[in-house]
Amino acid sequence: MIPKIVTKLPGPKAKAIIARDKKYMSPSYTRDYPFVMDKGEGSYVMDVDGNTFLDFAAGIAVCATGHAHPKVVKYICDQAHQFLHMSGTDFYYDVQLDVAERLCRAVPMKGKKRVFFTNSGAEAIEAAMKLARYHTMRHQFIAFFNAFHGRTLGALSLTGSKIIQKKGFYPLIPGVVHVPYSYCYRCPYNLEYDSCCLYCLKYIEDMLFLKTVDPDDVAAIFVEPIQGEGGYVVPPMEFMKGLRRICDKYGILLVCDEVQSGMGRTGKMFGIQHFGVQPDIICLAKGIASGMPLGAIVATEDVMNWKYGSHASTFGGNPVSCAASLATLELLEEGLIKNAEVVGKHIFERLVGFVQKYDCVGDVRGRGLMLGIEIIEGKKTREPAQKLRNAIITECFKNGLIMLGCGPNTLRVCPPLVITKEEADLGLDIIEKTIKKVAK
Ligand SMILES: Cc1ncc(COP(=O)(O)O)c(C=O)c1O
Repeated sequence: MIPKIVTKLPGPKAKAIIARDKKYMSPSYTRDYPFVMDKGEGSYVMDVDGNTFLDFAAGIAVCATGHAHPKVVKYICDQAHQFLHMSGTDFYYDVQLDVAERLCRAVPMKGKKRVFFTNSGAEAIEAAMKLARYHTMRHQFIAFFNAFHGRTLGALSLTGSKIIQKKGFYPLIPGVVHVPYSYCYRCPYNLEYDSCCLYCLKYIEDMLFLKTVDPDDVAAIFVEPIQGEGGYVVPPMEFMKGLRRICDKYGILLVCDEVQSGMGRTGKMFGIQHFGVQPDIICLAKGIASGMPLGAIVATEDVMNWKYGSHASTFGGNPVSCAASLATLELLEEGLIKNAEVVGKHIFERLVGFVQKYDCVGDVRGRGLMLGIEIIEGKKTREPAQKLRNAIITECFKNGLIMLGCGPNTLRVCPPLVITKEEADLGLDIIEKTIKKVAK
């Protein structure tokens, strides 16, 4: 299969669906270009007019095993024939346990672990916030600028990504403070790595804890090991190790939001494994069930000490979603994590060439198949070039490549983990051709 555009975009059928959508759907959704899905297969998606696109977005880093992987579909169908729902809150079923056991084995945390299932990423974050408060009996949270943790009121309070996501929704929950993330390409303190001596960590202890927040009140630090929506930002190794040290010193829980960076995307099962750090709670969703709605938190047994009835969910851990998750976990461990590492490295090496060749490509970063390309006005000023980034995305679409942005001016490359080197090269050729055309 190759990308193939056979109509004007949007085609006639797509146009009709978009017109209907405009009448009925919430205007809050962020559709940036008119792709109307009909079918998906592996790394490709087809629209309703018969156009074929290579997918570098994977339903926002969700379709880990590609579109409609036969094994995932089979597990879903088999489970659907057996039963669709029986609320794990009230009763037992083994497919949920199969997933829980595998997750407990996979997380980089010592000792016994426990799992709480949710339906989404935001709901996993809510569960982690509640558990952190419950376990520590403290109320304060620390989160980071540019972080995205979801849109429900608790998760939104931790989110520090775009003001449009918060405006109109105040008051949010009290007790959240944001501090700068270690975003070295645009250091918020205008310092250089590593002569900065990780001032972003020092700030937490020397400013925050001495002036406005008593560390004894802090329940948890919420951190994405690699920031997702904020721009695919990879912090230095010492940053994550430093957060662990701060948490240990003050009895604070380290909560890793692996909703986007987890489930093999970065070439390891969890993004935090690149940093050699053990979190206290891990939040999961997106790729966990290849597109079926499922989220989870995994915590050490001593941390997950909430009592009978203190937290639950009707749909969380739905059996069909768990069946999809089981197939996903098997496929990840049987080779897709390795593929993410190998193909990710191949893509990264080509992208590094783009930084050298094109003045508008400022920075390339990421791990595995979670890669960001930061688009700038030029190397002299490094001004973020949002319009140019958006133009590249639109032009790629016209040429048969589905892409999304992240942060104000970054292109994200997050294809399904089944992508081959050849498919990756096809996508990179489209991006390169587009950059040459759009960025004069
Ligand atoms: C890191 C991270 N956390 C949480 C969320 C929220 O997940 P959901 O949209 O499933 O609620 C997202 C979604 O993009 C995310 O990227």
